[in-house]
Amino acid sequence: MTKNVGVLTAGGDTPGLNAALRGLGKSASYVYDLQLIGFYDGFRGLLHDRHIVLDESALSGILTIGGTILGTSRDKPHKMEIGGKVQDMRDAMVDTYHKHHLDVLVCMGGGGTQKNAFMLMEKGLNVITLPKTIDNDIPNTDVSLGFDTALGIATEAIDRLHSTAHSHHRIVLVEIMGHNTGWLALGSGVSGGADVILIPEIPYQTEKIAEAILERSRSGKHFSIVAVSEGSMSVEDRKKESELLSEKVQSKNKKDKEKARGALEMFYLEQSGRSIRLSQDLEHLTGLESRVTILGYVQRGGTPSARDRLLGSELGGAAAALIAEGVNGVMVSVKGQTTKPVPLKSVVEKRRIIPDDHIWIETARRVGTCLGD
Ligand code: F6P
Repeated sequence: MTKNVGVLTAGGDTPGLNAALRGLGKSASYVYDLQLIGFYDGFRGLLHDRHIVLDESALSGILTIGGTILGTSRDKPHKMEIGGKVQDMRDAMVDTYHKHHLDVLVCMGGGGTQKNAFMLMEKGLNVITLPKTIDNDIPNTDVSLGFDTALGIATEAIDRLHSTAHSHHRIVLVEIMGHNTGWLALGSGVSGGADVILIPEIPYQTEKIAEAILERSRSGKHFSIVAVSEGSMSVEDRKKESELLSEKVQSKNKKDKEKARGALEMFYLEQSGRSIRLSQDLEHLTGLESRVTILGYVQRGGTPSARDRLLGSELGGAAAALIAEGVNGVMVSVKGQTTKPVPLKSVVEKRRIIPDDHIWIETARRVGTCLGD
């Protein structure tokens, strides 16, 4: 009997999502007896029932295109802003699911999307998710869709910054995305040969960075590339953050909690200028001219790499096969050379950070890269 499948893409977009939609939709029609509809703009499209039938023609010609043909949003089903008010809209989403007689809903997204999908699963929906984020921080999968493309873009940026840093005898800081994990900065920093790599997992000391740069200068290398993960922090700031977090947890009444939340928000706001402040400090400590490049959304845009096209096609096809078998409540994860369903519950509430003994950390140290510690 034909199964009805809904699909949505949510959270930050990544290259490779269209390959995954195509992989799911083409396997659905060529191999399995599945009918696919796509909801626009993440969970918001599911709420308002804005959809498109994803037949052969809708999925044709999208393999190499970046972004997502369905659009995306960061809406959370349990906390949606509707008419200026934050509301729990999960039941309305459940209604849309039943209106279309769906047998399963496929959600492609990062950590937040995995949580949101899990919440809908708790409301009785059959759900399958795919791991997608340039941050590569979803647990229980070796890699996430989009990471490889972003890694290539950040690496190319570091390559390009090398020649201008060299010509001008400058320090160049390059700020790389990754949210609270350093996969993207570390991976691109090692591949691009950054001299210093700063990641959230290893709080840094500015003096140690300055010393590494001065040491390069003494050996005749009058330029340095510093790859800064957007979530990295100095030792002092990390300490301040944990104090503020524990103040928030320990606050006894509503007023204190509000105050603690406000202090934390202000702290994170100040942190957003980290690369610029660090650049000024390094200029002061080394006497070398310093510049900052924030890569930003360039890392999420454009054509997916060959690896992400392959991965998207594999993940989409694997999801279709699982649906045909009647499996749900899982994320299709990447394990070695293959894909494997893992319980969705095992993915939520956790973040995949870089372990201390990870080979990329060891490799960076072995080639003499300063990690700021
Ligand atoms: O989750 C991917 C990501 O690009 C992070 O690296 C970054 O911190 C965040 O999204 C930016 O979010 P937004 O697209 O909402 O500005």
